[in-house]
Parts: sequence; C-alpha cells; structure tokens
Amino acid sequence: MISLHDLRKSYPATASSPGVEALRGVSLEVAEGEVHGIVGESGAGKSTLVRCVNLLERPTSGQVVVNGIDLTALPESRLRQARRNIGMIFQHFNLLSSRTVQGNVELALELAGLPRREHKGRSLELLEYVGLAERARSFPSQLSGGQKQRVGIARALAANPKVLLSDEATSALDPATTADILGLIRQLNRQLGLTVLLITHQMEVVRKVCDSVTLMRDGLVVEQGDLNEVLTRPDSDLSNGLFDLGPQEAGAGLALLEITFAGGNSSQHIISRLARQFDLDFSIDAAAIEVIGGVNVGRIRLEASARDVAASGTLDWLRQQGLIVRLFTPPDDPAPDRSDGGAADEGGRA
Ligand SMILES: Nc1ncnc2c1ncn2[C@@H]1O[C@H](COP(=O)(O)OP(=O)(O)OP(=O)(O)O)[C@@H](O)[C@H]1O
Ligand SMILES: [Mg+2]
Repeated sequence: MISLHDLRKSYPATASSPGVEALRGVSLEVAEGEVHGIVGESGAGKSTLVRCVNLLERPTSGQVVVNGIDLTALPESRLRQARRNIGMIFQHFNLLSSRTVQGNVELALELAGLPRREHKGRSLELLEYVGLAERARSFPSQLSGGQKQRVGIARALAANPKVLLSDEATSALDPATTADILGLIRQLNRQLGLTVLLITHQMEVVRKVCDSVTLMRDGLVVEQGDLNEVLTRPDSDLSNGLFDLGPQEAGAGLALLEITFAGGNSSQHIISRLARQFDLDFSIDAAAIEVIGGVNVGRIRLEASARDVAASGTLDWLRQQGLIVRLFTPPDDPAPDRSDGGAADEGGRA
C-alpha cells in the first residue's frame, strides 16, 4: 500500500541554517491493512519522511508509491486528488479554535469535495466513529487533549482515506489517553482496513499497536521488519530499548545468561526446563516480558555458576530451542567461546 524507494531529502544551507541531509536513502514497504511504526531519536528524519509520503515535502530523489500510484510522478492537480486517499493527524491536533467540533469536521468534508447537503450527516457519522458525537457543538477549547485528537482523527477520515499518517499524535497525551487513542487507531485499522504509518519516539507506542517497525537514525534505516521478528534479533536496538534489563555485571565466578524469546517459549517454560534438564542452580537477575500481537516476547537474565554453565552445555541446548542467548562473565573468569571484555558471546539462533 505504501512503497518508498531510496528516498533522499536534502535541505540546502541558508543564511540561518546549515545544509542538512534529512533522508539519506530510505526504503520502506507497508502492506495494506498494516500498522507500521517509525521510531528514532529527535532529528532522525521521521517527520521529513512522513511529509514525503503525501508529498507535503517533495523528496530530492526517490519514489513514493501509495495505493499503486507513483505520487512523485504526478502533476500538482492530480496530486491533490491522490492526497485525499491519505489522512493525517498531528501532535498538536491542528483544530480551528473558532469552529465547533462538528464545524472542524465539516471543513474537512468541504475540502474533500463532499456536497454541502451531506456535510451534517457525514460529520455526525464520523464523530460517532471516534466516540465524540455528544460533543459535536463544543469548541476545541472545551475538550481534553484526547478528545481533540479524536476530532483530529474524525477530520482525517473525512475523505475515506485508505492510508492514515500519524506524526507523534499521542506525544502530548498522558499514558491512559495515549492508550485510548492507540486503541481507536487500531480499531479503525481493523474496521476500515486503514493502513497506518505511525511516527513516534516512544517504543511503548510501537509495542501497543504496530505490526511492523522501522528504526531510523541520521536519515537512514537501521532496523526494519515485523515487530516480533525485529525484537528477537540478537543485539537489536529496538529490543534493547523495549527490554532494557539495566547494567549487567556478573559477580566473581558467576555467569549471566541473557535469553531473548518469543512465542512458544515462555519464561516459565524456559526456566523449568533448564532446571529439569541440567540440575543447575540459578537465580533470576532481571526480566522484561511483553505481550506483542498476542505472543509473549521478552528477555530474562539468569545468574549461575560460570563453571557449571560452561560444563553443562546449557548454551548449546538453549540455542537448540531457538532462543537468542548471550553470556556475560566477569573479565577474568574462564568461560566458553568468549570474545572480549565482559560480553562473552553474541549469541544467535541455533
Ligand atoms: N524545513 C527544514 N529546513 C531545514 N532543515 C530541516 C527542515 N525540516 C527538518 N530539517 C532538518 O532535518 C533533520 C530531520 O528532521 P525531522 O523533523 O524529520 O526529524 P524527526 O525525526 O521528526 O525529529 P523529532 O523527533 O524531533 O520530531 C533535522 O536535522 C532537521 O533540523
Ligand atoms: Mg518529528
């Protein structure tokens, strides 16, 4: 539904700012009906990317194909029409304060070219969709942030778009309201088959609603793929961000086993099988577990005698179970397949 090919965007230097290469060759595929998250630190190029998807910003080079149409090749007149297939919501809602909630939605309907006589019915229908029909006559200043964003969403849906772009739409909201709005986006995604491209700097947002994810840094893609798959890659920055177990430091004679798992291997399952299989004494040093797309994904860190771990073949066995395992030992301790420093082993699927 959304295909970006090798997008580049440079902002030339001006008297007031230096030249910036905001996008340095970004490619991305989002399938129809998918919610795709773009994460990255401030300045990574996320907003530039999303503005290039509806060509509010024209990329310096590269191709933007949405719903089978190459937007980069369209003349301005056809582009305006193609943009109607793409709704957008923003962090600061962008509502007109002088118009009521309904008036804001009707304005979007007018811009979408809907005949005036249909405005009232359609705007109320859209407000019903986002759970705000009773506030139709309120003004934006009388609404909470979450309610304002609901109006923003109703407005974005005015032209029955196939794609919804969201640039930090929940960043100004508290955690409970964020969850609410994300729930609404998920519901619209399922009910209307909307494809969603969601920009955020919060991994938490990705965890809650995204099917797939791209991590950007300095205008480049550094990680990309299905969420569960990316999170169980060894040494994935996204995974490290979501399952941050804090600093690892093994005590003298001890080894830390960091196990990343998804799906069939729940943490309990792993621990009980380890104990049964190897008769090892270990303690849980740290753990972080999330349910993502109905699947348990997480990371646990176990502490055990370095000698026992080395002698027992525990590492090999864990990898045979399809788990990602990393071993940390104190720098002076003997350990199996040690590379350098404390991180003894980078792990990998068996
Ligand atoms: N109109 C512009 N003119 C010049 N430079 C720009 C312009 N817009 C963005 N940039 C620069 O491009 C880079 C990427 O900016 P962008 O807004 O895409 O980042 P972002 O990932 O959305 O960051 P944030 O999380 O802070 O919103 C930054 O270095 C920024 O200063
Ligand atoms: Mg931004």
